[in-house]
Amino acid sequence: MSTLTTGMSAPAVADVDVIRAHFPALTRREGAHPVAYFDGPGGTQVPRVVAEAMTDYLLHHNANTHWAYPTSAETDALLAAAREALADFLGADAGEIAFGANMTTLLFHVARAIGRGLEPGDEIIVTELDHHANVAPWQALARERGAVLRWLPLDVHTGRHEAGAFARLLSPRTKVVALGAASNMLGTVSDVAAMVQQARAHGAITVVDAVHYAPHHLTDVRAIGCDFLLCSAYKFYGPHVGVVYGRAEATAALDLPRLEPAPDWVPECLETGTQNHEGIVGAAAAVDFLAGLAGPADTGPRRERLARTFAALHARGESLLARLWTGLGAIEGVTCYGPPPGTARTPTVSFRVEGHASEQVARFLAPRGVYVSHGDFYATTIARRLGVVEEGLVRAGCSCYTTHDEVDRLVVGVQALVQGAH
Ligand SMILES: Cc1ncc(COP(=O)(O)O)c(C=O)c1O
Repeated sequence: MSTLTTGMSAPAVADVDVIRAHFPALTRREGAHPVAYFDGPGGTQVPRVVAEAMTDYLLHHNANTHWAYPTSAETDALLAAAREALADFLGADAGEIAFGANMTTLLFHVARAIGRGLEPGDEIIVTELDHHANVAPWQALARERGAVLRWLPLDVHTGRHEAGAFARLLSPRTKVVALGAASNMLGTVSDVAAMVQQARAHGAITVVDAVHYAPHHLTDVRAIGCDFLLCSAYKFYGPHVGVVYGRAEATAALDLPRLEPAPDWVPECLETGTQNHEGIVGAAAAVDFLAGLAGPADTGPRRERLARTFAALHARGESLLARLWTGLGAIEGVTCYGPPPGTARTPTVSFRVEGHASEQVARFLAPRGVYVSHGDFYATTIARRLGVVEEGLVRAGCSCYTTHDEVDRLVVGVQALVQGAH
């Protein structure tokens, strides 16, 4: 039975059963149980078309770039096509897309370059809601360049940035503003466009971590208005590759550390060494997979098909989230964190089960075919602010292949734990 619940006005998108058929991993079983993957925020499963695109590249087109023989030219063409695909994914131009090992490595690279222009006392705004990947590079600059970190505080009651606090942090010394578009722990979606606008009015460089946002909302770098935005393909059904959007002028202005023969033009200057060609091809295939969910009859421009897919998946995600939140919330001793359903958030829920460390919960659920992640998810400041550093939280994220039945199995599993089952 289909569990599609897109509502009356939501656009048509592939039925969840059709989507699930693309993912070989979903046939995995844990004893008598099919496996339900709730670890999307840590890394989604991969559809067959993505793995096939990577295999096809490796078996038939594998080469280094910019040489005179055909497979090298094919590689150049595939990498150029991948920049186009990721540009459509982020609402950018292909000339503003670069690839790297992962978001963390790309951001370290960009941050180091930004840091070369900082003076002691210059201020960098970071947030308590962010993954440490968007904090550590700025902490390094604070140590190395004498920059001052200013923290945008988390309101632990709402799971959002403290209202009005951002404007108070901005000063004539603000040189960099590093924001997360969505929290990988609480699911909170932040109004980064509004903050970027204020930051730019102060002349600050703006950097947005969209790793947890991009799988759930169609990212629009122009609407956000930032200088740099980063995401990771393995969070949106692709392989382990990082992607950075760099506004052309902002990238050109960077003082990037560079090996002498490496390209010094935008966007390749953001890349170091030989790239993960097969991974980049796979990242583009993931974008096409998502665009394809708009339906085989839909032949419009890729960005528009992506918009239709995201709108429908968002509606479905809201329905899954509401069920998960209500189901977990009804269990005695379970606390869900983050903003409630129906507000600006992703379908990712972190929760605590009184009397059980998060790892215990995850270990209890795994043999029941329910795979959840646990700990602090590198959102270390949130964990500290919520007072859950020791036991951590359990995290369940809904992806495009998640069903209402899987949500129910997760809730029943947590109930069984609380009722003392073994
Ligand atoms: C919100 C967020 N930012 C950054 C990262 C780091 O991404 P990567 O693993 O590509 O370095 C993650 C990874 O989980 C994340 O969830």
